[in-house]
Amino acid sequence: MVDIHCHILPGIDDGPKEMEQSLNMAISAVKSGITHLYATPHHMNERYDNPKITIIESVRMFQEQLQLYNIPLIIHLGQEVRIHRELLQSVERNDILTLDHRGKYLLLELPSNYIPTYTMDVIYELLVKEIVPILVHPERNRRLYENPSILFDLVKMGTLTQITAGSIIGHFGKNVKKFTEQIIGHHLAHFIANDAHNTQKRGFFLQNAFYTITKKFGIEQTNFFQENAHLLVRSENIKWEVPQPIRKRVLGIF
Ligand SMILES: [Fe+2]
Repeated sequence: MVDIHCHILPGIDDGPKEMEQSLNMAISAVKSGITHLYATPHHMNERYDNPKITIIESVRMFQEQLQLYNIPLIIHLGQEVRIHRELLQSVERNDILTLDHRGKYLLLELPSNYIPTYTMDVIYELLVKEIVPILVHPERNRRLYENPSILFDLVKMGTLTQITAGSIIGHFGKNVKKFTEQIIGHHLAHFIANDAHNTQKRGFFLQNAFYTITKKFGIEQTNFFQENAHLLVRSENIKWEVPQPIRKRVLGIF
């Protein structure tokens, strides 16, 4: 399996502090069936800054250790970029890492409780430059939860999204699980990933998540997510279905 979102590099964000913990995460990932994993440290999220050059060096050191310990996990370069007004300038400064060789797909994070006023403008600017944002865990954004039409508008304009494995199996509560199901059911999700930070609560649950998705939506939905992750590894165009608006307002405590 391919996992496109993971905080596995040591000492650079809220993932593992030491290399030993990173290696334990790698072992845990392999045991869960992952063969390809994108290392995607936080960048510009107010606590952590990890420009491209820092991540390249950290991945190089991590890969050396994986080889040393014969851990069969292929690491891909990535970055989880918090949206900010000058994102395009950061791209031009070469601080930003896309997930593919063509510079086309970018893992993009919103703040968890709100959507900045400039969000649509920044996403539009990226799309004009043929950079497609993959919005991470929309199911855990309070504003999108309260007003899912914003998510529909984002996807309709060309944004892709990645839901988190833990969300569909209930790790973030009933409301997030229900919202995740609605997002998938309305063709507003394109990837599923672990977004692992450790080997425990924020660990590797993709298999369990795929089992749940297959039971609820059928094997085609699981295949769709898995195929998209493989297309990303091959730097090919991601599959997309016509999005449907979530009409019913989702109410409840987040
Ligand atoms: Fe993340």
